Amino acid sequence: MGCCHQYFTQTAGGDSAFTIDASTLTFGAGCLNEAGDQARALGMKRVGIYTDQGVRKLPPLETVTRALKAAGIDFAIYDEVRVEPTDESFKAAARFAVEGKFDGFFSVGGGSVMDTCKAANLYSTYPADLLTYVNAPVGGGQPVPGPLKPHIACPTTSGTGSEATGIAIFDLLAMKAKTGIQSRLLKPTTGLIDPEVTRTLPSTIVASTGFDAMSHALETLTDISYARRMRPAGSSVRPPSQGANPFSDMVAFEALGLVGKYLVRAVNDPSDTEARAEMMYAGTLAGIAFGNAGCHLPHGMSYAVSGLVREYRAPHYPQGDPFVPHGMSVVLNAPSVYRYTAVACPDRHLDAAHRLGADMRGATPADAGEVLAGQIIKFMKATKFPGGLSSIGFSERDVDALVEGTWPQQRVIKNAPREVSRDDLRELFRGAMAYW
Ligand SMILES: NC(=O)c1ccc[n+]([C@@H]2O[C@H](COP(=O)([O-])OP(=O)(O)OC[C@H]3O[C@@H](n4cnc5c(N)ncnc54)[C@H](O)[C@@H]3O)[C@@H](O)[C@H]2O)c1
Ligand SMILES: [Fe+2]
Repeated sequence: MGCCHQYFTQTAGGDSAFTIDASTLTFGAGCLNEAGDQARALGMKRVGIYTDQGVRKLPPLETVTRALKAAGIDFAIYDEVRVEPTDESFKAAARFAVEGKFDGFFSVGGGSVMDTCKAANLYSTYPADLLTYVNAPVGGGQPVPGPLKPHIACPTTSGTGSEATGIAIFDLLAMKAKTGIQSRLLKPTTGLIDPEVTRTLPSTIVASTGFDAMSHALETLTDISYARRMRPAGSSVRPPSQGANPFSDMVAFEALGLVGKYLVRAVNDPSDTEARAEMMYAGTLAGIAFGNAGCHLPHGMSYAVSGLVREYRAPHYPQGDPFVPHGMSVVLNAPSVYRYTAVACPDRHLDAAHRLGADMRGATPADAGEVLAGQIIKFMKATKFPGGLSSIGFSERDVDALVEGTWPQQRVIKNAPREVSRDDLRELFRGAMAYW
């Protein structure tokens, strides 16, 4: 990490401080049994539990409800969370929260469930039109007015890290693009991360969420430095996506090492409980990392990919409307992006590739983009992932629409270490069509 100190050198007008946003989380096999205790400690008496119809039938939900009953805590279950939520599904979830008069929330599920629960908590506590708190320029970008009700997040997938972030992502149907709400106040109060939940996860979901975690860590490491972002008028307006900093580096490196070691094992062997537990931990760490730094181009571009999908349906995911699982929509852009960004901070790209287990013999800064891209592609092949955007139904005729869908995501795009124009984005999407 010889590059680090230089990377954070102060620049004229740039920020001179970064905020460490630490989460209080509990990790370990069986910790979901602590749900009752933890809820009581937060003063919860009547809880809204958010889940989806798939997770509703699985053991984690039963464990949580059993623990709440044992603690004498009243609850109601909302199992209508939409996998890959939309503005409409956020609104329906918020209505349930208003009607339920809850004093606390549990989310038991993947990123879709945790994000929906954050939104339900927000809009039931501070009712407003949905776009009010949505990131500008898509939404009004109004700050969340104050603290929310306690929320205990219980992830059942291994990768989004949503339990550790103040972000809620949804598909804005009218715009055919994903967008989100971001505020430190949205972050769950705490989380119970129990790797036992991974036993029932099919391989495609382990792969997609694992690539999401890999991308969170890679984007954190290759973000623009916090010292190159303009100094904020006050610490309260320092953006949560503050750019790469020494704390997010440390956490992202740890996450990346775990992903490099365990992703392929966790995907290809469901009985490998060690690999699945380590991926669960990696997902949380990567969430802490990007929650402290922000994501950049692979995520920014993914929002257009998932909004514009026509026919793709991934195995093991709900087979209703076509959709691209989030981690897939992100990582398919990644090799193309790193080939472009490497020139801005080659040492960081090389360090990331090394951490992911790439063969570094003879690698020079000039090869950094290719080495990192090659290592990501190796993981895609080893997990039998689609080989590029063309494998999920996109082609050259979609490039302009993909660029226009990405362009409004300036908040994310500006976190990249290198500036991008619309023409650059066009080339990045072209480069992501087919890797082999
Ligand atoms: N807020 C954040 O910080 C953040 C970060 C990354 C992603 N996201 C968002 O999270 C969403 C994706 O979440 P996800 O990838 O966790 O998947 P998901 O929540 O969409 O769930 C995917 C599928 O997995 C099933 N499932 C969940 N747990 C299971 C288990 N233990 N066993 C078997 N099946 C299980 C679900 O029923 C569902 O069908 C996207 O909307 C994405 O934008 C948010
Ligand atoms: Fe993500």
